[in-house]
Amino acid sequence: MSTILEWSPQFELGLGTMDEQHHLQVELINALRVCMGQCIGREELGQLLSSLEQHTEAHFLEEEQLMAQMRYPGLDEHRANHQAFARRVRDTHRRHREGELIEFSTLRLIQGWLVEHLERADRDFGHFAADAERPRGGIARWLRRFG
Ligand SMILES: [Fe+2]
Repeated sequence: MSTILEWSPQFELGLGTMDEQHHLQVELINALRVCMGQCIGREELGQLLSSLEQHTEAHFLEEEQLMAQMRYPGLDEHRANHQAFARRVRDTHRRHREGELIEFSTLRLIQGWLVEHLERADRDFGHFAADAERPRGGIARWLRRFG
């Protein structure tokens, strides 16, 4: 996987705010990897990790609320997936605050997780949401004719 993760139309779920938040998540992870590659400094890396941690937690909460509203059957599994990732980001940030050197491989893992999550778990939800929004056809339309 290259250092910079290019946004791909494949990541689009067709869910406005969620897509915007995913965009920002990708941008933050890209900024982190560039920052590490160029060794800009501890403080900047800390700020980026803090932004990623805050954005990730807020975004996951919003996404899970949307899933709950839509009665998404995969919510529990999806939430567990989110929690594991949020824990990894929080832990990376904490280790950085405590003065540990953050390895490039850690950010590669974070980036890899995000890509896989967008391409699989979030995509599954995107399909579910698209189906839920689609006007009911078939038998429902047929039944309406009889008022
Ligand atoms: Fe998600």
